[in-house]
This record gives sequence, structure tokens and C-alpha cells, in this order.
Amino acid sequence: MHIHRYERWWMIFGLVMLVLFGATIFIAALADGVNPPSGSQTIDPAKVSTTPPFDHPGLRKRADGTYEAYYVAQVFTFSPSMLTIPVGSTVTFYVTSSDVVHGFEIAQTDVNMMAIPGWVNDATHTFRTRGTYLLVCNEYCGIGHQNMFASIEVK
Ligand code: CUA
Repeated sequence: MHIHRYERWWMIFGLVMLVLFGATIFIAALADGVNPPSGSQTIDPAKVSTTPPFDHPGLRKRADGTYEAYYVAQVFTFSPSMLTIPVGSTVTFYVTSSDVVHGFEIAQTDVNMMAIPGWVNDATHTFRTRGTYLLVCNEYCGIGHQNMFASIEVK
């Protein structure tokens, strides 16, 4: 079979780009540690309500002045449904689900992860602007999915 010279060049170019992009992802994941927010801690999804610290979801202040916020997602609510954070604080959100897969997205921030039964996912954000932030479930989780939201007050 005869392949035209220019066509062959384009095929080689396409393959080289494919390898280049693949290598970029590979290097970012391994060398720079760029990963989706997931997978460092596990939890028994049937015992979320009795497993600390998820038995008392909410905000905790760390010794270094930053915060950690524990969230439980379940059909069709987030617990806590309302959180107040001092402006300028850095918060690490830990989220798990006690039933099905939910989403955990804080609008206007880069916090966007999945709430997966059996796993604790985390993401960190510094709130530099005052206001009310909407926390939404962005994974379809059932008939009440569109009503699954909570709010975060930064003041
Ligand atoms: Cu929870 Cu959609």
C-alpha cells in the first residue's frame, strides 16, 4: 500500500503528539504528584455516623491557625448544611458519603471532588473574599439531587 509522503508526515506528527501528551500526564502524575483529590483514607460507609471525626461533622481549628472541615454527604443533604468561616482562613475539606456517590463542589473556588462511600477525599482552599459560597452536589445521586446543597458563610 502506498502512503503519500505528506500523509505519512502527518501520521508521524499525530503519533509524536500523542506520546508527548501521554508523557506529560504521566510525568505530572508521578513526578509532581498531581492527582485527583482522593484515596488517602478509608472509612466504613455503614459506620460514618459513629466514626470520629465524622460523627460530629463541622469545622475544627488546627494548632497552626488553619482549619479542617468534616462533611458527610447523604441523600439529599450535606452535613453541616451551614458553615461559618473567618475571612482569610485556609480550610481543608474532608468529605465522605454514607450512601451513594455524591459531588462536592464549592462554587467560585477550585474545590471540586467526589464524595465516595468508603473513602475520605480532601481539598484545601483559602477564602480571601467575604460572602456566601454555595456548596453543591454535582454528581447525579437520585430523585432529590437538584435539592442537595449547603452554604458556607465567609465573614
Ligand atoms: Cu448528591 Cu447529587
